[in-house]
Amino acid sequence: MNSRMWGGRFAQGPDAVMEEINASIDFDRKLFPQDIAASKAQADMLAACGIITADDAEKIRNGLDTILREFEAGSFTFSRALEDVHTHIEARLIELIGSAGGRLHTARSRNDQVATDLRLWVRDAIDAIDTKLLDLQIALAEKGLEHATVVMPGFTHLQTAQPVTFGHHLMAYVEMLGRDRSRFADARRRMNESPLGAAALAGTSFPIDREATAKALGFDRPAANSLDAVSDRDFAVEAMAVASLTAVHLSRFAEEIVIWSSAGFNFVTLSDRFTTGSSIMPQKRNPDAAELVRAKTGRIIGSLNALLIVLKGLPLAYQKDMQEDKEPVFDALETLDLCVTATLGMVRDMEPNKAAMRKAAGEAYATATDLADWLVQSLDMPFREAHEVTGRVVQRAEATHRPLHRVPLEDLQAIEPRITAEVYGVLGVTQSAASRTSQGGTAPVNVRKEARRWLKRLKKEASD
Ligand code: ARG
Repeated sequence: MNSRMWGGRFAQGPDAVMEEINASIDFDRKLFPQDIAASKAQADMLAACGIITADDAEKIRNGLDTILREFEAGSFTFSRALEDVHTHIEARLIELIGSAGGRLHTARSRNDQVATDLRLWVRDAIDAIDTKLLDLQIALAEKGLEHATVVMPGFTHLQTAQPVTFGHHLMAYVEMLGRDRSRFADARRRMNESPLGAAALAGTSFPIDREATAKALGFDRPAANSLDAVSDRDFAVEAMAVASLTAVHLSRFAEEIVIWSSAGFNFVTLSDRFTTGSSIMPQKRNPDAAELVRAKTGRIIGSLNALLIVLKGLPLAYQKDMQEDKEPVFDALETLDLCVTATLGMVRDMEPNKAAMRKAAGEAYATATDLADWLVQSLDMPFREAHEVTGRVVQRAEATHRPLHRVPLEDLQAIEPRITAEVYGVLGVTQSAASRTSQGGTAPVNVRKEARRWLKRLKKEASD
């Protein structure tokens, strides 16, 4: 006899390679707790609807509790011959409690089961990531507040552009992560519908109560269409798309940490806790954690791509191709979780080298725009003309190897006779950053206000 769940019409067992390509237990065992929870909800509902007896439901519940304990204790036996997590649990249940266990699969299919389990898993993963992103936002805003007045060069094209504050730079990431979190919340809201009861694809003739199982599992409602419920994985795609974008944000930050901690910049220092040494060059301190956050982003995007490609040619409803959804989903969300944790660690660990930042901010004529703005404001010069005059001043500074604020007044006046000594008041980097008080600008007064506004909101969220 064939020992498989679906063995009734099969005379022979599968080929070894069939078993190998078919079995998902090596990775879908991750759904063990979700599968148990969904089975308990199913058993309770079946009993409440009079489809199975209360006595059988009780036996099933106890059996499932035992199985979960075995799993948690590491004593549960897995076998590829049993294919996947659903058949493993059901087989063990029947082994433990006999024929009552065989009633659990009434009015359901592995198709609605797996769709339900995976939604529960993704939902939990989103919740865990969101909590960590909140912590990361708090850490960034706290550091931003602490360093609201620290001046550094702002870059465009990675060329020194204008002085900004380190706090302002960190607060930019608080904004990005805030949007990522709202995208996760949005995806979560959309995915929170229960596939359970869609059965194989068409629903069931048993008088089930889908509202009850949906509620028991924390879903907002049952999914409306049974074909859609078992066949779409858009919820996983969305979560991975948001994960990819979040990872891209973390990766850009990681890239900045790599640049900032290089000897040429020396803007920040990471401690021993977030760096490694070289096996040959004794002086090295490598920012491996940042590099790996940057690299793992590729993996996350790759996973999203993999699932989209799996889905793109599939007719309704369930196709076995969909078993290939799990590894990319698990990997993408677990990898992002790790990247957020590592980034949080680096943010807390990172110390800005204020002197180096300040010095770099004063190099490469970073206050040239301030000079042009002064010409506009004090001499009523049209900006285009002021830009031209400033360009000539920069040329002069370059030719005489001086920073802008050290170009003598007579040199300035040789270019534009109306320039007065007052101009020196705007050529310093501190003054430059402090003057940018327009809404959203880099001035320390703005940064403090923004950091405090965010911290109030984030800390409230953290305590709720
Ligand atoms: N292991 C399968 C999966 O992950 C469960 C669903 C199997 N359904 C089926 N009709 N064979 O997709």
